[in-house]
Amino acid sequence: MPTRSKTSKEHPDLESVMFTEAQIKKRVRELGRELRAAYGQGEFTIVSIINGAVMFTADLMREIDNPVRLDCIRISSYADRTKSVGTPQIVHSLTIDIAKRHVLLIDDILDTGKTITLVAGLIAKLRPASMKTCVLLDKQGRREVPFEADFVGFKIPDRFVVGYGLDFAERYRNLPCIGVLNPKLQNPPEWA
Ligand code: IMP
Ligand code: MG
Repeated sequence: MPTRSKTSKEHPDLESVMFTEAQIKKRVRELGRELRAAYGQGEFTIVSIINGAVMFTADLMREIDNPVRLDCIRISSYADRTKSVGTPQIVHSLTIDIAKRHVLLIDDILDTGKTITLVAGLIAKLRPASMKTCVLLDKQGRREVPFEADFVGFKIPDRFVVGYGLDFAERYRNLPCIGVLNPKLQNPPEWA
């Protein structure tokens, strides 16, 4: 049976690879160190914005040995397009109590800033002891709502990327690398 290489091979639908699996792993490890420097040995509560932040959250959590609690929040914004449409909506909210807790909000990518601003606002209303934000990717040039994350994996240019949790119409989340989706496949896909 042919075995699929675990190293980041280019997927045929990618125009280029932006970050290889090894580069992501290295940066996530460094982010773990940055989190340990910020939180010491203390407990914190991770709020992960799903589905996009699933891989990043899972890997980052395993780089820290602090006691952590986890909850996920589901937000919809993109539908099957590559540009955010309208206002993001909360599809499924938090299920654990975060009052007086130190909260680390994690998302895959900070783009216009609308999603993280919405979730950060919701968390703030629940009176956490503190809130910090961590994103794997930051498309700084696309911001519509001013927002700076406390921890950023990589700053990237304005290209639509997929892989390592990031999707286009729910596809490509399982790619081990992050790559630029071939623009020919972006608008609108026949299979979406
Ligand atoms: P924002 O609300 O515009 O900041 O968008 C944040 C959300 O849009 C992220 O959680 C992603 O799900 C999605 N997103 C933004 N840019 C990309 C991209 O290049 N590829 C895949 N998803 C993206
Ligand atoms: Mg998302």
